[in-house]
Amino acid sequence: MTQPIHILNGPNLNLLGTREPDVYGTLSLKEIEQACAKHARDLGYEILFRQSNHEGELIDWLHDANVNACAVVFNPAAFTHTSVALHDAVRAIEPPVIEVHLSQTAAREAFRHHSYIALAARGSITGLGLQSYLLGINAAITSLGN
Ligand code: DQA
Repeated sequence: MTQPIHILNGPNLNLLGTREPDVYGTLSLKEIEQACAKHARDLGYEILFRQSNHEGELIDWLHDANVNACAVVFNPAAFTHTSVALHDAVRAIEPPVIEVHLSQTAAREAFRHHSYIALAARGSITGLGLQSYLLGINAAITSLGN
């Protein structure tokens, strides 16, 4: 059986819906999960959707994805701009990792312009809200076997 796509979410994304809706939109993380599950299922894939506020837990989940996922869609949130450890974990695993962001980080504060994850990910999709996740799923599937 095909392994699921793991969709991993970093800190503060549990607050989506009420957190800076002008920047991140009004969808809750649960609603994003439901849209991802439907989109993936329509394409013949299951997902495992997780969120953590803790860097180490995200590292453990990337290691878990190395064994149990066919691909990863990853929104590392603020750790994008700070974490060499997450960069190393993305480099260390076999499945393709697609970085996604709801907001257009390149058009925001200078400290959001650099991504440690982009240096290691297969590709990045930013600035499209929910569509970043759905296109991330498409990209993850397209990357399989490549
Ligand atoms: C984010 C962008 C990051 O800069 C920020 O720290 C987040 C969310 C996004 O999805 O737009 O928490 O990853």
